[in-house]
Amino acid sequence: MAIGTLLPEQADELAKLARMELKHMKGFTACAKNLEVEADMPFAKTFFSPLHGNFQTALAEGKITTCLLIQAILIEAFAIAAYHIYIPVADPFARKITEGVVKDEYTHLNYGQEWLKANLSEVREELEQANRDNLPLVRRMLEQVAGDAAVLHMDKEDLMADFLSSYQDVLMEIGLNGREIARMAAAALVG
Ligand SMILES: [Fe+2]
Repeated sequence: MAIGTLLPEQADELAKLARMELKHMKGFTACAKNLEVEADMPFAKTFFSPLHGNFQTALAEGKITTCLLIQAILIEAFAIAAYHIYIPVADPFARKITEGVVKDEYTHLNYGQEWLKANLSEVREELEQANRDNLPLVRRMLEQVAGDAAVLHMDKEDLMADFLSSYQDVLMEIGLNGREIARMAAAALVG
């Protein structure tokens, strides 16, 4: 919804994509209820706050590229990796819900990818900077949940591999060359 304020001519489409997230929230709330577990919302807020803070700063500065990299690419690729690795170990109810969510998330990933692709010549520099600022945060987020993921038999290395594979595919689709992609992915190793 916030990105729609930066791209008013696409606000309707973005609102449509945003509504899918509400559906996901309802789906995952049902999964938790089914397992009789309660979401740790204070943890969720802390967990997302570094990325959320960078998003809010970029939004205030009108930096569409940074906002899209954070929301449409990094968060979506991270979520898709988590869902891919979760599906084989999920209970049947959660598996069905998660499979539906993954399909939706690909449309979100695709939205950011296509916009960045169409604007590549103007966004290259900001994209590299946004990657440097935010990819290390994603790696740290993964490390923060590795222990909990292991309890669910979700392997940290598998999560990272799935995430980096989707992320690099997106960068390739956007039109970056192999060298640029390798340099951007290497930012996950530092910071
Ligand atoms: Fe999404």
